[in-house]
Amino acid sequence: MKNYVIKGNVCYSKSKDEFCIVENGYVVCENGYCAGVYRKLPECYETFPNYDYTDKIIIPGLVDLHVHAPQYSFRGMGMDLELIEWLNTHTFVEEAKYSDMEYANRAYDIFTEDLLNSATTRACIFGTVHPQATSLLMKKIEDSGIRAYVGKVNMDRNSPDSLCEQSVEQAVCDTEQWIVENREFENVKPILTPRFIPTCSDKLMENLSVLQKKYHLPVQSHLSENLGEIQWVKELCPDTSFYGEAYDKYDMFGNECPTIMAHCVHSHIDEINLIKNQNVFIAHCPESNTNLSSGIAPIRAYLNHGIKVGLGSDIAAGSTLSIFKAMTMAVQCSKLRWRLVDKSLAPLTVSEVFYLATKGGGEFFGKVGSFEKGYEFDAVVIEDASIKYPQTLSVKERLERLIYLAEDRNIIAKFVNGKNLFEKIK
Ligand code: GUN
Ligand code: FE
Repeated sequence: MKNYVIKGNVCYSKSKDEFCIVENGYVVCENGYCAGVYRKLPECYETFPNYDYTDKIIIPGLVDLHVHAPQYSFRGMGMDLELIEWLNTHTFVEEAKYSDMEYANRAYDIFTEDLLNSATTRACIFGTVHPQATSLLMKKIEDSGIRAYVGKVNMDRNSPDSLCEQSVEQAVCDTEQWIVENREFENVKPILTPRFIPTCSDKLMENLSVLQKKYHLPVQSHLSENLGEIQWVKELCPDTSFYGEAYDKYDMFGNECPTIMAHCVHSHIDEINLIKNQNVFIAHCPESNTNLSSGIAPIRAYLNHGIKVGLGSDIAAGSTLSIFKAMTMAVQCSKLRWRLVDKSLAPLTVSEVFYLATKGGGEFFGKVGSFEKGYEFDAVVIEDASIKYPQTLSVKERLERLIYLAEDRNIIAKFVNGKNLFEKIK
């Protein structure tokens, strides 16, 4: 059923500076697209079936622009290291286990179930280097109804043998076969995923670029996350003047190639200009950047530049799939940056991070992340009566409070692209 009306307190962003709130109004889904938000239901929609969520909070689904599915198993553990040591000590060891399909099956069931129960309706997901396990992950996400880009990771240097592609030829062959086998899903699409420059040889990048052009795939990777990493890339790519150039050299940095780069904590001004000019999306992952002591990305500066920014959980450098948590940490980190680093960049506001988590990241998927007319219909219904309060609160106050306090059990219904994924009666 893709024609219906949801009644409740409808909250969404049109721009980064304002919440739009219609109290006990109606948001209409017509053929999977939003047909508008109304205070009084227009006559033409009166025959549509009605989900009555009077007094509940209804928001667009949240978007996770950067998450590693195989790392979900060790979330919350092994955080006392910086990026490269963390990858070598914990991450690569865990990801190597996904050559075992029985393990992958168990682990990806847990990941998919928890993602389904969260407020996230769209995600850009890293798998591992293993094509078979990544295809299995895609099938599970497809069946859940969540819309996602999923990538088989490519890496062929500076990693353990158990995670390195056998050869560039084999990597290309595996990746192409994986693309062809996973192109026809409804909800899930392949995304090219060179892990990051330190683990991808020039020859691998050159060949991935050919696949990118042949299949018109989007690309996701990591950029300027950690100071040691940036120095290492300088040594590995002496012909580049900044990190981003090492992707751009192979036409995998925006323009014709829709691209998400996670982090950009320490981007050089030339890199920032290239990100802006070539429409690269930045996935801001504040919890990850805190846990791995990477730093605080200057998101206010990126917004001032007009750069496209969304939020990411970056499991397992981030501990939780909750994009609400990413919102609050984005605010908190920006406050510390303002106080301790740069007084000229004002902290992010709650309304700005709500925008980043919905319409900001949603733009990577098209018209996604808002209830404006013509947007794909992704909605999440939240009950907050169980988070008790003695006073009278406005809907805006209740929404603000939920951003800080909501847990999965407060999510009582979820709709993606018009389809109802679940309803829990409360
Ligand atoms: N850079 C390369 N791989 C990774 C990863 O798995 N997580 C994070 N946070 N950064 C990376
Ligand atoms: Fe990451």
